[in-house]
Amino acid sequence: MAKPKKRYICQACGGVSHRWQGQCPDCAEWNTLVEDAPATVFSMKHDLSSGGRAVQFVDLDKPGPLPTRQPTGLAEFDRALGGGLVPGSAILLGGDPGIGKSTLLLQAAAKIAREGRGVVYVSGEEASGQVRMRAARLGLSDAPVKLASATGVRDILTTLGAMDAPGLLVIDSIQTMHSDTIEGAPGTVSQVRGCAFELIRYAKENGVALVLVGHVTKDGNIAGPRVLEHMVDVVMSFEGERSHQYRILRALKNRFGAVDEIGVFAMAGEGLEEVDNPSMLFLSGRDEPMAGSAVFPAIEGTRPVLVEIQALIVRLQSGATPRRAVVGWDNGRLAMLLAVLESRCGLNFSSAEVYLNVAGGYRLGDPAADLAVAAALVSAMADRPLPPRSVWLGEVSLAGEIRPVAHGGLRLREAAKLGFDRGFGPAHVKGGGDALAYDGLGQLANLVDRIIGNS
Ligand code: TYD
Ligand code: MG
Repeated sequence: MAKPKKRYICQACGGVSHRWQGQCPDCAEWNTLVEDAPATVFSMKHDLSSGGRAVQFVDLDKPGPLPTRQPTGLAEFDRALGGGLVPGSAILLGGDPGIGKSTLLLQAAAKIAREGRGVVYVSGEEASGQVRMRAARLGLSDAPVKLASATGVRDILTTLGAMDAPGLLVIDSIQTMHSDTIEGAPGTVSQVRGCAFELIRYAKENGVALVLVGHVTKDGNIAGPRVLEHMVDVVMSFEGERSHQYRILRALKNRFGAVDEIGVFAMAGEGLEEVDNPSMLFLSGRDEPMAGSAVFPAIEGTRPVLVEIQALIVRLQSGATPRRAVVGWDNGRLAMLLAVLESRCGLNFSSAEVYLNVAGGYRLGDPAADLAVAAALVSAMADRPLPPRSVWLGEVSLAGEIRPVAHGGLRLREAAKLGFDRGFGPAHVKGGGDALAYDGLGQLANLVDRIIGNS
C-alpha cells in the first residue's frame, strides 16, 4: 500500500499544505502549520454488498412536524437569530475576548430555564464558582440552569446521554474542549473540529439547540478552523469596542433566516440591556456642526441606524510616512476613497495623516457609507463643517461617480423622521419623496466643490 501522504493544517485558517512551511501559503501567518493525521481513502463498490445501508428519501412537502423556533426571551438575540433558536441546530458565536459572549449566553440561558425548558451551560474557561458569581451579579441565581465546568467532550456527552436532552446546550468555548479520541492539545484545528463534530451530532440527534462560543483571532476570524463555519447552521458575531457601551450581535450565516437583522445591546453594570430603538445611538449628540463629521443613514435589517463618521487630517511638516488609522471601517476602502479624491478631485493627502472613526464603536460594512466618509474627509481637509442636520449616502466608484444604493428612499425618509432636513447623494434616489431637501451630486468632484468651493 502506498504510504499515506503527510499533510499540514494551518491552525489559523484551516488551510492544508502537503509540506511543512514556516508561513502558511493561504493566510500568511507564521508558524501555524501542524502535521495532521493522514486521511484514509476507501474505495467502495456502489451496491449494497459494500455493507452500506439504503438512504431514505422524502419529498419536500412531506407532512410531518417541522422544527419550531424557540424564542430565547431576549428580543434582540431573537431578532438577530431570525426569530429564535431552532431545535437540533448549531450556532457558533464569535467575538473578541471580554466583549460579553459569556454574559449574553448566561442571560439567555437563564431566561429559557425560567420558562421551564432544560438548559445546560458548560464552561471550559471559568470555574463554576466564577460563573455563579456572575449570575449573582446579574440577578439570575434563581434560574434553574444546569451549570458545569468541564472540558472533556466524552464526559460531557456521557453525562448528557444519561439525562433528558435539554432545550439549550451552551459550550463556552469550543477552543477549550478536548476529546481523548483525537490527538493534539485543545484549541488545535483537529481538536476543535472533532469536538464540534461530536457535539453537533449529539445536538442533531436529540433536537437540542447548541451554542458554541468561538474565539476570534486578531484579524477578526473565528480562531482555528474556518471549517467550523461550514459545520454549524448559524454563525454569529458579537461586536463592539470594549471601551464603548454598545454591542452588536450579527448573523454572518444563517441557514434558517435572513442575515441582515442585528441585535443591539448596551453593556451596563447589571449585564447586557436590550436596545430596541438604536437609531440615534451612534450619533455624538452635539448640536454644533463640526468640521470632519458626517452622518450616514445606515439600514440594519429593517431598522434605520444613523451613524456619525469622524475624520481628522493632520498635515505633516517632515517627510515621514503619514499614518492612516481607521476604527469601524475598512482600511482598504479608505485607501481607495483617498485615491479617488486625489486622482479625480485634485485633493492631496500624501503629506497628511488621516484618522477615521465611526462613533460609538459601531462597525460599518455598507458601501453606501462611501459618500459620508468622503464628506467627512473633505470637510476635515477644508476645516469647514458640513451643513447642519444633513445626511450623506452613496457608493463611490473608482471613476469618482456617486452611485445609487439600496433602500435610498427608505434611508432618507427615516433620517427625516429623526429630525434631519438635508440629504446628499447620487443624482436620483427613488422613493425619498419630499421628506427632506435632497441634493443629487452625481460626481465626487461636486461634493468637493460644494464643501471647498463657494456653492
Ligand atoms: P464576558 O461575558 O466575560 O466576555 P467574553 O465571554 O466575550 O469574553 O464579559 C466580560 C466583560 O463584560 C467584562 O470586561 C466586564 C463586562 N461586564 C459588565 O460591564 N457588566 C456586567 O454585568 C458583566 C457581567 C460584565
Ligand atoms: Mg467568556
